[in-house]
Amino acid sequence: MANMNVKPFITRGPYRLIKIYKKLPLIAGHKLLYTCNLRCKMCPFWRRKDEKLLSVDEEVKMMRKLADAGVLFMGFEGGEPLLRKDLAEILRESHERFHTSLVTNGILLKHRINEIKNYLDYLFVSIDGIGKIHDHIRGVDGAFEKSIEGIKVASQYVPTAISFTITRENMDEALKVVKLAEELKVKVNFQVAYDYSTADKLSPSHERLKELLESLLKLKIEGAPIINSKEYFKAILDSWYNSKPWECKPWLTINIDPQGRIVLPCYVLNEYNGSLYVWDTDIEDLWNRYDWDTYANCNKCALSCYLEPSLFSWSNFSMVKERIIDTIISSLV
Ligand SMILES: C[S@@+](CC[C@H](N)C(=O)[O-])C[C@H]1O[C@@H](n2cnc3c(N)ncnc32)[C@H](O)[C@@H]1O
Ligand code: SF4
Ligand code: SF4
Repeated sequence: MANMNVKPFITRGPYRLIKIYKKLPLIAGHKLLYTCNLRCKMCPFWRRKDEKLLSVDEEVKMMRKLADAGVLFMGFEGGEPLLRKDLAEILRESHERFHTSLVTNGILLKHRINEIKNYLDYLFVSIDGIGKIHDHIRGVDGAFEKSIEGIKVASQYVPTAISFTITRENMDEALKVVKLAEELKVKVNFQVAYDYSTADKLSPSHERLKELLESLLKLKIEGAPIINSKEYFKAILDSWYNSKPWECKPWLTINIDPQGRIVLPCYVLNEYNGSLYVWDTDIEDLWNRYDWDTYANCNKCALSCYLEPSLFSWSNFSMVKERIIDTIISSLV
């Protein structure tokens, strides 16, 4: 991965170290729109109406604010981000400032990869099963074929991973999708579905989920191309089955809605409702005034964008090796 953006690590790294005892976001997630070309059963977002979307200039205003607050990693998603005609411009601006990733359903990927490939450090394409089961969950026939075609083309240019959302309808597909990732020579990330009030309730039954998490942990230890850390699977097993909660640190990730409003305290609580406009907010001040302690033992969701950073520890060598040495440092060479 030669196109990793190293600039923020150099210019903002020392700044962050000085402020090490303060709470600041390190990762940003941003929904570029809610509109989507698929109709996933477990997803609440395509059901929302978009207001006027941010212009590229407003997107840049948001990025400047996030960079000043110390954000290093930026992840774009939606709705379906490839539906935005100005996506390449937005990604180019992001790539100048942040390590930049995109989560897409992959339907339009084959046609748009050339425009965006130079501005991405990592690409996630959602696949929820093989063939018909994927199409069934995603609500559109033929979706699987198109997304796989997209992965085949895109992975020639950008490091790519499948994003698999575990629901009660696709638990038998998870191991097949690990095999698919191996065949496609990409990685795979797992995330457990959360039951939003405005979507179909598809979160998996806890008993069956336990078996699957144990199998995925075993495969991970054996070297399967699974992105989740071992700690991700262990934390869910400890918390949901052995009453040993992980400490959630939602302040490490800042989410911004399609209008430029910050989603507090996290993606899930309040069902992704933005409140304060990012450009009107002193993020450092808000982050250090906000009552994050209330959420430390929440453990309600297992969204990897919150759980993985919450688990990170500089004192755990295997984690530092896996997340920093193997992923970030090796991508610089
Ligand atoms: C909301 S989508 C937006 C990006 C793009 N449309 C896609 O599907 O990849 C981002 C990710 O959230 C996942 N997702 C959807 N509904 C979810 C739920 N109820 N719980 C957890 N993840 C969910 C999707 O499968 C996808 O991997
Ligand atoms: S493709 Fe993504 S945004 Fe669209 S409905 Fe599915 S999960 Fe939601
Ligand atoms: S565990 Fe709770 S506080 Fe943490 S991200 Fe999930 S819903 Fe938010």
